[in-house]
Amino acid sequence: MVRRFLFLLGSTRLDGNTEAMARQAAAYLSPEVEQSWLRLSDLPLPAFEDVRHTGDGTYPEPVGNPKTLLDETLAATDIVIASPLYWYSLSTSVKNYLDHWTGWLRVPGADFKARMGGKTLWGVTALSDADSAKADPLVGTLRYTAEYMGARFGGVLLGHYNFPGQARTEPELPAAKDFFSDRPSIVTTRLASPTRIRISA
Ligand SMILES: Cc1cc2nc3c(=O)[nH]c(=O)nc-3n(C[C@H](O)[C@H](O)[C@H](O)COP(=O)(O)O)c2cc1C
Repeated sequence: MVRRFLFLLGSTRLDGNTEAMARQAAAYLSPEVEQSWLRLSDLPLPAFEDVRHTGDGTYPEPVGNPKTLLDETLAATDIVIASPLYWYSLSTSVKNYLDHWTGWLRVPGADFKARMGGKTLWGVTALSDADSAKADPLVGTLRYTAEYMGARFGGVLLGHYNFPGQARTEPELPAAKDFFSDRPSIVTTRLASPTRIRISA
C-alpha cells in the first residue's frame, strides 16, 4: 500500500520552526510516499461544540473546511501533528482539530474510529525552553490520543528554537534524518541528549 503522510501545520506564524523541522524530516521520505501539507490557519474550523449527550448524540456530515480536514485525515496512512509548544501543549488550532475528532467519531457512516485504527500518529514540535521535559504534556497528548484511537504512536521530533526561521537556517536536526523511518538509527532519550532529540515511540 502506498503511504500517504498528512502534515498538519499548527503554528500561528509563517516561517515557523515547527514547519521547518517537519520539512527536514519529510525530505528523507522515499519519493513513492505521498505528502499532503495543510496549514490549519488556512482551514479554520468552527469552535467544537459538545452535543454528545443532546438528542441522538450524532454529528452531521461535515461540510467545508471540516470536510476537507476529515477527508484528508481519512486518506492518510500517517498523520503528522506539527505544532509549536504553546503553554506546554498543542497550539489552539491543533487542539480544536483534535476536538473535532470527537464529533467525527459520531458522524453516522464515517466509521472514523475503525478507519483511524491502522494509521500512525506522529508529532513535531519546537519549543524555546531548554528543558525537553516541558514538552511532556504535548507528547502525552499525542501518545494517548493514538492509543485511544487504536493507532500507532510514531514519536515526537523535538527541537529547541524560538525565533522564526531559526530551524531553517541552523544546521539540520540530526534526528530529522530517519525520524519517519520504521527503524530509526537515532533514538535518543531526553537524558542522553538534552538539546536536539527525538522522543521515541
Ligand atoms: C502562545 C505561545 C505560547 C508558548 N508557550 C511555550 C511554552 O509553554 N514552552 C516553551 O518552551 N515555549 C513556548 N513558546 C515558544 C514557542 O514554542 C517557540 O517560539 C517555537 O519556536 C515556536 O514555534 P514556531 O516557530 O513553529 O511557531 C510559546 C510561544 C507562544 C507564541
